[in-house]
Amino acid sequence: QDSHAWSGRFSEPVSELVKTYTASVNFDKRLAEFDIQGSLAHAQMLAEAGVLSADDLTAIQTGMAEILADIREGRFAWSVDLEDVHMNVERRLTDKIGDAGKRLHTGRSRNDQVATDIRLWLRATIDTVVAHLVELQTSLVDLADAHADTVMPGFTHLQVAQPVTFGHHMLAYVEMLARDAERMQDVRKRVNRLPLGSAALAGTTFPINRLRTAELLGFDDVCQNSLDAVSDRDFAIEFTAAASLVMVHLSRLSEELILWMSPRVGFIDIADRFCTGSSIMPQKKNPDVPELVRGKSGRVVGHLMGLITLMKSQPLAYNKDNQEDKEPLFDTADTLIDTLRIYADMMRGITVKPEAMRAAVLQGFATATDLADYLVKKGLPFRDSHEVVALAVRYAETQGVDIADLSLDKLREFSALIDDDVFAVLTPEGSLAQRDHVGGTAPNQVRAQVARHRVRLAG
Ligand code: ARG
Repeated sequence: QDSHAWSGRFSEPVSELVKTYTASVNFDKRLAEFDIQGSLAHAQMLAEAGVLSADDLTAIQTGMAEILADIREGRFAWSVDLEDVHMNVERRLTDKIGDAGKRLHTGRSRNDQVATDIRLWLRATIDTVVAHLVELQTSLVDLADAHADTVMPGFTHLQVAQPVTFGHHMLAYVEMLARDAERMQDVRKRVNRLPLGSAALAGTTFPINRLRTAELLGFDDVCQNSLDAVSDRDFAIEFTAAASLVMVHLSRLSEELILWMSPRVGFIDIADRFCTGSSIMPQKKNPDVPELVRGKSGRVVGHLMGLITLMKSQPLAYNKDNQEDKEPLFDTADTLIDTLRIYADMMRGITVKPEAMRAAVLQGFATATDLADYLVKKGLPFRDSHEVVALAVRYAETQGVDIADLSLDKLREFSALIDDDVFAVLTPEGSLAQRDHVGGTAPNQVRAQVARHRVRLAG
């Protein structure tokens, strides 16, 4: 059994159970590349400050390059006895290069080291998430472009409300995802600050140059308070909150896809590669992927609750509680990235059924508001016109027809203000065309938004 970095202080080793209970190497080894990157910057800064010799720096650089290669090739033997990624790497370095390896930890603690590792990892992760958010938005914008004129019922309370275009509906999700990407970029600003130099909690007695380390690692700035830098994980909570919102948005879209694919609705079909069958019912084709996205949104929101609860009540500065930040954080990122990747592909594989969408619009009195607006434009106060149209809808319902199917004479029984120009606004297309302002569902507005998004996504 390897002896610990702190074994001088203790009279007996920890029990086997305590060892596995306290070890994090099985999951934090994922930070290894960032741990090495941070160590190399720290060592270089120490050498420039005259704390490490040039020979020590060279030895550290050579040793770390070998260790990195071993890790990448899967040759590195991780030891639970060495607790975490930091001590595994440091011990291997010392085995390779001797005393220079033992000097690496000068002016540093695992507390500022791990905070730095997580930030480096999260910065790279956020960049990946943003790239996938852009890709998914692009696939939705493509769908919107192809369906800028496709009429579908817009719903409130899941009841047919007014005609919209399928393109407009897709662009609603593009707006959500655009804000999600913006949120991620905003979180990144607060992630991208350097904790190193805070050491255990109070800073260090060595003549360090934190701005230099920050520069070497591409951080925008250094954390300005050592106690805060080693203890808070608010940046990880923020990321998980932003990730939860992405998942919630995709859960809503998933719910709609599932509904639209139900034979009772039949608005879309999802490509077979995203569906599965039933082991008993031969006819079945189930929308498993959207259902799982809906389910996995709960998992990510759960991680948000876990992380924020982990943080509450922790006194300053570092506490071992914080070791529990990694699994939820990693799983949040993995779940989110896989979801975004699969979603971009799935949306490209959707078959839209415009006839079914249009038929649904014609069954739901979706242009009743258009008739009310028409009467207002002829001089009737809106509340009166609402009443007139309600009576017309009730009558049409008894006849089993849409209001657009009523004769002009019949419509005029409800209001003498109605003329034969009414039919232009009672069709779904007429209804859409009139909502021609920024944010409206008119096809030319949808096309204008598509163009705006394309410019934004390219930039
Ligand atoms: N594995 C630890 C973590 O993830 C590293 C920091 C440990 N620091 C300490 N003082 N025990 O938080």
